[in-house]
Amino acid sequence: MKFATAICLYVLLSLAITRPAKAQPKIDVPAQIKLAEAQYLRMLEAHPDLTKTPQSLNPDGSQRDMPTSWWCSGFFGGSLWFLYEYTGSQQWKEAAHKWTMAVEKEKFNKGTHDLGFMLFCPFGNGYRLTKNEQYKNVLVTGAQSLASRFDPAVGVIKSWNKFEQYNYPVIVDNMMNLEFLFWVARQTKDKRLYDICIKHADATLKNHFRPDNSSYHVVCYDPTGKVEAKLTHQGYADESPWARGQAWGLYGYTVMYRETKQKKYLDQAKKIAAFILQHPNLPADKIPYWDFNAPGIPNQERDASAAAIMASALLELAGYVKKEKQTYLQTAEQILVALSVPNYRLQLGEKGNFLLQHSVGNKPAKSEIDVPIIYADYYYLEALIRYDQLFKNGNLSAVLQF
Ligand code: GLY
Repeated sequence: MKFATAICLYVLLSLAITRPAKAQPKIDVPAQIKLAEAQYLRMLEAHPDLTKTPQSLNPDGSQRDMPTSWWCSGFFGGSLWFLYEYTGSQQWKEAAHKWTMAVEKEKFNKGTHDLGFMLFCPFGNGYRLTKNEQYKNVLVTGAQSLASRFDPAVGVIKSWNKFEQYNYPVIVDNMMNLEFLFWVARQTKDKRLYDICIKHADATLKNHFRPDNSSYHVVCYDPTGKVEAKLTHQGYADESPWARGQAWGLYGYTVMYRETKQKKYLDQAKKIAAFILQHPNLPADKIPYWDFNAPGIPNQERDASAAAIMASALLELAGYVKKEKQTYLQTAEQILVALSVPNYRLQLGEKGNFLLQHSVGNKPAKSEIDVPIIYADYYYLEALIRYDQLFKNGNLSAVLQF
């Protein structure tokens, strides 16, 4: 008996010595989700009117809600789906359904390129989790509305109808709409939608990036597809790297690689990641200033929304690389650690019951500066769920089943 015990102890000890301890998550995801549930219950109570979607706070601290035609209208419904995904609770499914259907009419909206955000975040996640055919039908119609903004002679999806004197402006943010088109292309076997994604991503790759792999915010085209101007709308200057734009590009080319497995898109995502992660103005906690070249750094606002988008993208990108894998995972974790404690992470009852504060919407327009913004919450929740899945499954296959 004593001998057997000694053998067991020996085996256990050798295992403990020779095997590295399994990495432990540095973020208490269950606690963060529990807090998010309490915050979003209050958010729901404060929003009885489904035509007014939670967006941000006004300078006086009052609710800043927006109509469903605003580009952010799908993020609240999408965030509620994440709560349902994590908890499996019927109450979140019902709330998510309600706030998803609230934006249904935007499927006919041909005046915006933002239908990926507006429709795919709520309906795409809703379909992924429930397989509700009603959601799929909305997405199929919406994708045709979005595709109507693609002019084959120009070769890109038009973002806005006008910017300054230009008639065909395209912003790097537009890369985020391609996941939606890819999904509908697959579901409906519509090769045209697939081809639009490739054309748009290739033109963006060619025209939006500087030699250092940062991106311009706005590129304006003439009717033949010739570039007329490279400008900014939300960044500090035409030549400066607006932080959220870099994050959109990173996420966008990561999705391009997921969808096509073409190396050039993976290379681009890696180049963007390198630009961000090696930038001398990226703070130690990896939450970027709103623009990498904003004058007067460190006396400039950070943008938690850009950080949350970066974290979510890096968690996926880490799965496609070997050499950079640990760097991407560690950076994403570092961001999530920083966002999960005060003062980025809001506590119950604070600031309109959003999850995160310190985001910047559009500083040059003096709009939404250093406030909570709904898309920061959305990508924070998405990243938390991805992080949780990585620890549980070792990969993201369970949460990327679009
Ligand atoms: N135009 C989308 C954004 O502000 O990121």
